[in-house]
Amino acid sequence: MEIIRAKHMGFCFGVSGAIETCYNVLKEPENLGKKIYILGMLVHNEFVVRKLEKEGFETIEEEDILTQKDKLKSGDIVIIRAHGTSKKVYNILREKNIKIYDATCIFVTQIRKTLIKMEDEGYEILFVGDKEHPEVKGIISFGKNIQVFKNLEEIVNAEIKRDKKYCLLTQTTLNKKILEKIKSFLENHYSNVKISDKVCGATQVRQQAVEELSKDVDILLVVGGKNSSNTKKLYDISKSINESTYLVQDENEIKKEWFRGCEKIGITAGASTPEEIVINIENKIRGIFNV
Ligand code: F3S
Repeated sequence: MEIIRAKHMGFCFGVSGAIETCYNVLKEPENLGKKIYILGMLVHNEFVVRKLEKEGFETIEEEDILTQKDKLKSGDIVIIRAHGTSKKVYNILREKNIKIYDATCIFVTQIRKTLIKMEDEGYEILFVGDKEHPEVKGIISFGKNIQVFKNLEEIVNAEIKRDKKYCLLTQTTLNKKILEKIKSFLENHYSNVKISDKVCGATQVRQQAVEELSKDVDILLVVGGKNSSNTKKLYDISKSINESTYLVQDENEIKKEWFRGCEKIGITAGASTPEEIVINIENKIRGIFNV
């Protein structure tokens, strides 16, 4: 029995950066004794969030800030999660004189900046992504009248006018292959849509690595949060190639019967999954097989 890790997996620099920001905020002498909140889930992983809560960070929900149900007081600290937040939340935090530490990933910030710049230049924005995802909600809140599409089918049916100029932007975790299809459709049908390809590199290499690995193993475990978009995409890619693909949050979800007759066990992890969880899973598998 062999456990093979995907060539690229686990924490991306955006997630590592967000966690590092939290610990740096704790260390700053001027922050001593202050109330420190993290906006929503810093990263989409329960384990990481619980660990930070043990360090004294409190989670504050975006919804509570928007509906004025929060307990924030002037001088408190709020760390913005890796996926970013909406313009309205930034404005409320500033009005309340909250000290903001912004851990929004650079990829998300870049998309946001492009959106603002393109709208200023007169482009209408077409956005591909999950409109319920915090990253997408945050980015589009900086624009005016944005059309959001889930997939190519929705774009095919979209109302794109010939006499206007458009810019297509995407969620950072969009699958590169889906993006290629969308690009080719738009390029073949419209000359007035500019495509800004800003899908995050960390997502791409993880998706490519799982695609390769899933062809080569008997079973593939994707480790990560059930509400993590990039983890879900790794799962979808692997599942479409290898039926024996399982998404697990930690070692407790592993089932012995999955491994019956398996020689090669592949493992990958979402960009917000800590190494510690992957090691626990590997140890549990070794325990099952007694190796
Ligand atoms: Fe940023 Fe990509 Fe990670 S958008 S948070 S580097 S998955």
